[in-house]
Amino acid sequence: MRAYRLADFDSLDSLRLHQEPDPRPQRGEVLVRVRAVSLNFRDIAILRGRYPRRSVPGLVPVSDAAGEVVAVGEDVHAFKVGDRVLGAFHPRWFGGHVPSTILRDSYGAENDGWLCELKAVSQEAVVPLPDALSFEEGATLPCAGVTAWNALSGATPVRAGHTVLVQGSGGVSIFALQLACAVGARVIATTSSEAKARTLRALGAAEVVNYADDPDWGRTVRALTGGRGVDRVVEVGGPGTLGQSLRAVAVGGEIASIGFLSTDNPGIDFFQFKASGAILRNIAVGDRTLLEDLVRAVVATGLKPVIHRVFEFDAAKAAFAHLESATHVGKVVIRLPG
Ligand SMILES: NC(=O)c1ccc[n+]([C@@H]2O[C@H](COP(=O)([O-])OP(=O)(O)OC[C@H]3O[C@@H](n4cnc5c(N)ncnc54)[C@H](OP(=O)(O)O)[C@@H]3O)[C@@H](O)[C@H]2O)c1
Repeated sequence: MRAYRLADFDSLDSLRLHQEPDPRPQRGEVLVRVRAVSLNFRDIAILRGRYPRRSVPGLVPVSDAAGEVVAVGEDVHAFKVGDRVLGAFHPRWFGGHVPSTILRDSYGAENDGWLCELKAVSQEAVVPLPDALSFEEGATLPCAGVTAWNALSGATPVRAGHTVLVQGSGGVSIFALQLACAVGARVIATTSSEAKARTLRALGAAEVVNYADDPDWGRTVRALTGGRGVDRVVEVGGPGTLGQSLRAVAVGGEIASIGFLSTDNPGIDFFQFKASGAILRNIAVGDRTLLEDLVRAVVATGLKPVIHRVFEFDAAKAAFAHLESATHVGKVVIRLPG
């Protein structure tokens, strides 16, 4: 089989295609023919050495995939040959508290990921992919989809009447916009691009604020709620946006802390945080149960994952470059032959 490996963290040229022996499923494992993977900012962060943790060089990158089961090991009862599946982002977090082993299990950072033709994984590390979703659509769900669903869930799930702030037009934010609209919430979106603002409105955003033109966009967002503030912030900007998110959030509202897209790190004012009355919740994608919930929600609502562009397996480097250019809206996908 063919597999890409990231030799080091220098440049895109470090992503090299290798011919390797086909993996064989061991007891309890399924062998998946990968049919589509989706890229996340995380894949670029690992490549550029910007990931918060050190990654192991030489691994197969990419965390998110969908495919079909082509062989099963002994004692596999959950799946059979021919089943369509998608991989869980955390292969050993099934529900409940975050396991202490979570960092060691991470695809592409600590273990081989999914940018390969065949992968043997535990039957517990995949969930069924319903017929309503293509392989390309399914592959968008494990990280970006689950993270967005998690951000809207938590102790006080977002529901009709709530206002949600989403930042930018990347994978997590677009899922958060679509899912928030699906549960009847009002969405305010930020972007740096007028063209993307039109797409965000077409996808259901009630208001769009250009954060590049308006450095005090948090205050603008708050004004758009009549001064009350938003109930939930889907915080993907991180160090450079948290201060504005604190201006935008309602007293008792929640900031779901997800990302680190911004390159500046001005720090936050403790007293601003305290005075905001906000709840800050750290998100680590989500467990397998949440992925199963999300798949059900996507099918039930007819939500169509927004795929900006699909690349062929041979053009994987171009797919990484495309994601890094940040010209996309939603997800960038790589397709593999059947
Ligand atoms: N903690 C977790 O569980 C978790 C899970 C998934 C993702 N993440 C993190 O969440 C972030 C988003 O991931 P992604 O895969 O959705 O990214 P992505 O698809 O690469 O998003 C790129 C888009 O984000 C927007 N953006 C860039 N810098 C921004 C800034 N300073 N303020 C607001 N928007 C900005 C831009 O949109 P416009 O062009 O519209 O401005 C850009 O096109 C990343 O930091 C990722 O590592 C964390």
